[in-house]
Amino acid sequence: MRIDRRGFLRVLGGTLALASRSRAAAAEPRAPEIHSATANRRFGAAGARRPRRSSRLPDFKDYPGAAPLALPRAWSGPQRALADAVASGAAAEGFSGAPIALVQLARLLHCANGVTGAYGEGEAAIALRAAPSAGALYAGELYVAAERVEGLAPGLYYYAVAPHALLRLREGAFEAAIARALERPRALAGAAACVLLTNVFARYTWRYANRGYRYALIDSGHIGENLRLAALSAGLGEALALRFHDDALAELLGIDGREEAVCALHALGVVQAGASAPAERRFAERQDLPGAALSQSEHLTERYHEATKLVPVGEGVAPPAAEAAPAPRLASGAGAPPGLPGRSVEDAIARRRSPLEGFRADPISAEALRFVAAAAHGHAALARAPDVDLYLVAHRVEGLPPGLHRFDAQRGELLPLRRGALAGDLVRACGGQEMAGQAAAAFVMAARFAPARTRLGDRRYRDQLVEAGAIGERVYLAAEALDLAARNLAAFRDDRLDALLGLDSRRAGAVHLTVIGRET
Ligand SMILES: Cc1cc2nc3c(=O)[nH]c(=O)nc-3n(C[C@H](O)[C@H](O)[C@H](O)COP(=O)(O)O)c2cc1C
Repeated sequence: MRIDRRGFLRVLGGTLALASRSRAAAAEPRAPEIHSATANRRFGAAGARRPRRSSRLPDFKDYPGAAPLALPRAWSGPQRALADAVASGAAAEGFSGAPIALVQLARLLHCANGVTGAYGEGEAAIALRAAPSAGALYAGELYVAAERVEGLAPGLYYYAVAPHALLRLREGAFEAAIARALERPRALAGAAACVLLTNVFARYTWRYANRGYRYALIDSGHIGENLRLAALSAGLGEALALRFHDDALAELLGIDGREEAVCALHALGVVQAGASAPAERRFAERQDLPGAALSQSEHLTERYHEATKLVPVGEGVAPPAAEAAPAPRLASGAGAPPGLPGRSVEDAIARRRSPLEGFRADPISAEALRFVAAAAHGHAALARAPDVDLYLVAHRVEGLPPGLHRFDAQRGELLPLRRGALAGDLVRACGGQEMAGQAAAAFVMAARFAPARTRLGDRRYRDQLVEAGAIGERVYLAAEALDLAARNLAAFRDDRLDALLGLDSRRAGAVHLTVIGRET
């Protein structure tokens, strides 16, 4: 084929224009692909699995041959008021090496994700858990690496939720193996036990398609926050790790890291006073797996999870030299408003339930809102991802005009953004879910996107989802502590909710939403 000079110049010009357009596009801010691919739009969530299953997957894993060790249920130890636990919540910097009692561990597991209720009757009844779960499909599982628990041989255990029992998977001490998989290996030295939170993603994705991935990570935030607050209430310390060598932990648990993966790790134990923050090393993100390996995976959420696994430096994309400094949050310090019951952490967890029938139309007090907001806001030292902003859509709060507000993280104050009734808009943004308008107020957690280093998205997005779930759990428990009720309404239309919040969806996006009010 001959190309004349004019034709050659045309082709060259076109190529250069394309290259400059794609350079410009690369420089433009945009949401990470994982966020867009898990958004609900007009026609539902992207990436439906095919073939779709017609029924839910089993809620529990089966380990035939593993003898169940029944856990004690009675508990008579110390309990702290929820407000107190939230306000005092700095993470443990070190553990003393002292053991904890089996009954303490049992209590923490129950508070994290044990059975606290039932929906329906007979064979069709669903056991409801301490933490909420999208559609009550419970993708989350708990494993325990027990090191110093009186009455429990060191080893790896699976927490069987229904019988409230531990199933031993492997015998032995695993502290050193887990430490090797952490960026802060000394963070768990001397801990009594580590609880590893995994998700069996398909329990959500068969129903919610790609959106189910978001829900799974958000769930880990809800469960982990219960665990953390229950540990503080029992006078123990807790340290969270979200950055770990994923495949090493998956191998330890005997899971594939793909269908089921570790999403968070909590070390628990007796706090060592005066310990200083343990030194860190940095892992890299796998990201640059050969393109073929990534594209072989059918589902974008799996590709994202695979690409954001941490691996030793040299085997992946190195983290940026300095991540943006976290915006400090103020300690909430909020006690229960006078005249309102201030429940303990355990009590709030035991009572927590999403209302089935909806919310009453009467308002909540400004003090109640302040209390819940302070709990949502949390403690300075705790933000798992400081780039999650908190918005409030007020419908019926005494003394607060209806409208949209944003929390100023530095000052710990509500900043009004827009006045006026937004109930109708919020119901539409929540795909017609009436509770969004019946509730007294809605908390919306929005992730700010740093300029994406990769097209799919960085690991940071996982942390943001976990953080959003933790905020949602504090909203639930604070509402419960005041005899109010909360419900997650995370099945929102992203474009509509972002527009309501006034977000530039290339730079930030709502990831979670929890409403509060008086239950009917
Ligand atoms: C990530 C997530 C998203 C949720 N989204 C919705 C929702 O859009 N609408 C709704 O009515 N409930 C939603 N829920 C609440 C669950 O349906 C509820 O937690 C579950 O039925 C268990 O009931 P419980 O909270 O009373 O234990 C959500 C929960 C989670 C964790």
